[in-house]
Amino acid sequence: MKTPNTIFSQILHGADYNPEQWPEAIWDEDVRLMQKASVNIATLPVFGWVSLQPAEDVWTFDWLDTVIDKLWAGGISVCLATATASQPAWLDAKYPDVPTTGRDGVKRKHGNRHSFCPNSPNFRRLSTQLVRRLAERYGEHPALQIWHVGNEYGGTCYCDQCGAAFRHWLEHRYGSLEEVNRRWYTAFWGHTFTEWSQIETPTDNGEGSLQALRIDYDRFQSDSLLNCFKAEADVLRQITPNVPITTNLMGTFKTLDYCKWAAELDIVSWDSYPIKDAPAADMAFQHALMRGLKEGQPFLLMEQTPSQQNWQAHNALKRPGIMRLWSYQAMAHGADAIMYFQWRRGRGATEKYHGAIVEHEGTDKPRVFQEVAALGRELKSLGARTLGGRVPARAAILFDWENWWAVEYSSGPSIDLKYVPQCQEYFRALHGLHIPTDIVSPEADLSGYDLIIAPVLTMIKPDIAEKLEAWTQAGGTFVTTFFSGIVDETDRVYLGGYPGPLRRMLGIWAEEIDALTPQQSNSVVFETKFGELAGAYSCRLLCDLIHAEGAAVLATYGSDFYAGTPAVTVNSFGQGQAYYLATALNSEALSGFFAKLCADKAIVPPLPNLPDGVEVVPRVSPSGETLLYLLNHTDQSVEIPLPRDTFQDLLTGQSRLGEVTLAKYGAAILAE
Ligand code: GLA
Ligand code: ZN
Repeated sequence: MKTPNTIFSQILHGADYNPEQWPEAIWDEDVRLMQKASVNIATLPVFGWVSLQPAEDVWTFDWLDTVIDKLWAGGISVCLATATASQPAWLDAKYPDVPTTGRDGVKRKHGNRHSFCPNSPNFRRLSTQLVRRLAERYGEHPALQIWHVGNEYGGTCYCDQCGAAFRHWLEHRYGSLEEVNRRWYTAFWGHTFTEWSQIETPTDNGEGSLQALRIDYDRFQSDSLLNCFKAEADVLRQITPNVPITTNLMGTFKTLDYCKWAAELDIVSWDSYPIKDAPAADMAFQHALMRGLKEGQPFLLMEQTPSQQNWQAHNALKRPGIMRLWSYQAMAHGADAIMYFQWRRGRGATEKYHGAIVEHEGTDKPRVFQEVAALGRELKSLGARTLGGRVPARAAILFDWENWWAVEYSSGPSIDLKYVPQCQEYFRALHGLHIPTDIVSPEADLSGYDLIIAPVLTMIKPDIAEKLEAWTQAGGTFVTTFFSGIVDETDRVYLGGYPGPLRRMLGIWAEEIDALTPQQSNSVVFETKFGELAGAYSCRLLCDLIHAEGAAVLATYGSDFYAGTPAVTVNSFGQGQAYYLATALNSEALSGFFAKLCADKAIVPPLPNLPDGVEVVPRVSPSGETLLYLLNHTDQSVEIPLPRDTFQDLLTGQSRLGEVTLAKYGAAILAE
């Protein structure tokens, strides 16, 4: 397999292309307009299954042959979709094992998309058959750059064949029914299973009180869909071993354990659809999460809308300049491709009002086309220079899908405790300080980091505590929070006091957990200055009542019956430090807290004195060159002083810069 750094010779700039929705007469015009927009890749035919196989024994590839040849003749390459994301109506009618069953227990009729049962044997057989045909037909085509398997895998099936497959999965994982009972703690409410067949899929009208069952069902469904992906990928790897394989992920998508998925992809790609006025830090969070799936390797931005969506409540236009800004933000955080959904606005059905490069008007005149074309020209002028760069992060946030499920399926301590927003709080604090931050799985190689934050790491899986201890002992700065170190991988509490296996390293014991309503708050008081932190800061959500068992107390609670007891602690552990935040600090406190930790570790922002609303991210190219991405997220122009006058802006070509002016929503890529 070619490594992602060497696959492409320029930034991919492309779009989802649905020629099957249009008469052939339009295809030549599409190629002409794609050239005008500097589009160099088209993703197709994502939803083309029925157009390629209108009946089980009828194959119609001619139209796709023509389209691919036309694209290639026009200098446009292809991200070839396996077309299995929406199975034909004839297929569902003929094979009733294919459509899914919802959480309500009701079997779905044919329709929509992504609506196949991942454990349907007929789906597996027919989808891989289609993939084989595609690979055999187009595997040698010079236009073929990447395989795009399926599309946005997702959805959970609760049918009986999934139930049977689930029981097999459990048998394989746990060996015996006794072990399942033990792991799931079924002695509770008399839930002990005495026959395998008693274990059913967790539908709304079924079992809801065994959190471990739900977590295992999520694991199983994520694995089941991954098996669908793998079945297709296996065929492709056999026939076209040199063509990289991806499928488009969706950032913080709850039900798929992307850490497991990433291992099966050659390149990560993902679809970014932020809401209007999304904070830059939250978009950066999503990019960092996707980048972290494959140890910081570059990813493809497979989809973004050039202008608006159709599926939000209010589908705002991207203001002039925003699409360009957010594209450079994606590149700053690791993208080597900027692609859109969709090339041409469809005439009918659900997505007719979804943004597209070509509007219903049909020419290159509209603003959106012009902005895409202008960006395309800029990207082209960058050549290969930005490709393959890595963000040199020394700080990392641990993110774990299974922990997410454990936190949110938990009954108590608070319905307001949500995992992703918690992780975002800590990321925002570091982002606000301009500290490059990765987001990685606890299972990842952590050796390159100096600061690791594990927000609400409730579930501690085997070997993770030992690994974190060893990492801290060797000199790392470790931070974790309230409601961490509580349960094992099947949601059984670690006995002997919270935070369970992290207790020794943190040097504390959390005796009780108090939950605050959204209207309530407490405060944490720093009696002695900690960096710039001094005095009281408000806190909310949860308050762990902790005892220092060797840890030093940095701050205490300001009120309630636990006023004066520890709220922020640090324990020296080997060469390192282990911090505990017993409650959710406000953003000012978090910012001051991390400023101090970063200063202690000499983790510094890439540029000093940045104005508010400006983001700066470094990316180090395979050649060793550092490129600084400067992004102005404000609607005012800003001046940014540079520490030396030796910078060049790759976007304007200006050199010997000692300062840069960024227009409203402007961006610069600085080299030295
Ligand atoms: C997803 C899908 C696309 C399209 C867009 C619309 O990302 O992959 O096919 O439906 O949403 O935003
Ligand atoms: Zn099913």
